[in-house]
Amino acid sequence: MPILNGVSLDIRQGERVALIGANGAGKSTLLRCLAGLVPLSAGDVEILGETFSGSPSARQRKALRRQLGFVFQFHGLVRRTSALSNVVNGYIGQGHGMRAWHQMLAPHTVREEARAALEAVGLGEKWDARADTLSGGQSQRVAIARAIVHKPSLIIADEPAASLDPAAGSDIMTLFHRLAGARGCTLLFTSHDMNHALSYADRVIALKAGTVMLDAASSDLTPADLEPVFHGD
Ligand SMILES: Nc1ncnc2c1ncn2[C@@H]1O[C@H](COP(=O)(O)OP(=O)(O)OP(=O)(O)O)[C@@H](O)[C@H]1O
Ligand SMILES: [Mg+2]
Repeated sequence: MPILNGVSLDIRQGERVALIGANGAGKSTLLRCLAGLVPLSAGDVEILGETFSGSPSARQRKALRRQLGFVFQFHGLVRRTSALSNVVNGYIGQGHGMRAWHQMLAPHTVREEARAALEAVGLGEKWDARADTLSGGQSQRVAIARAIVHKPSLIIADEPAASLDPAAGSDIMTLFHRLAGARGCTLLFTSHDMNHALSYADRVIALKAGTVMLDAASSDLTPADLEPVFHGD
């Protein structure tokens, strides 16, 4: 039984898209398929100028990493290193290689960019804190800084606001919205917060049991239109 079935989507450069759906609908799987992190059993993906079926080649993976910032649902930080080192990690695969692994070895400019990314997510003073001493919301901000540090042209964020309090959640979504708008960057995020989906995306796509049940401009939608995504048909 495939997790996703008959999903056919076109997302344009610069579009801000919210992907919604109940637990287990297939949102994370779809994002991971797009990034080449889960092999496709059928169909293909065309993303950032690369086309693949199955899995991307090593060259394609490298090209995707350079242009893509991915915020994972569960942060995925290296726990025993500092916030700054985690952000510097965002450069690995962007041509800076292992030199960027630890901030002490990182080129000055990489550290400066990483500091700027931490400032941008409101964690400037915490750059030196070990990741495993940060709160869930602070960790999420580090994960976001890591995803944006190399100025990707596409940001994919899996529930970026899930572990944040309401005010911090709105701040983070505003930040994404602004970054995407200012840089002409494409933004694809998942959310269980319908207000976030409607306020911070130009378009809302809803998945139900692995298929697209709704795909519309957020300006044409009301919260009531989104109810069936989570409740019966
Ligand atoms: N690695 C895996 N192997 C097998 N099945 C998986 C795997 N990962 C996810 N699934 C299944 O795929 C379906 C979709 O999962 P997915 O994580 O994509 O849902 P989701 O929409 O992101 O849910 P949530 O809102 O809880 O994050 C679920 O039924 C899940 O059990
Ligand atoms: Mg998920």
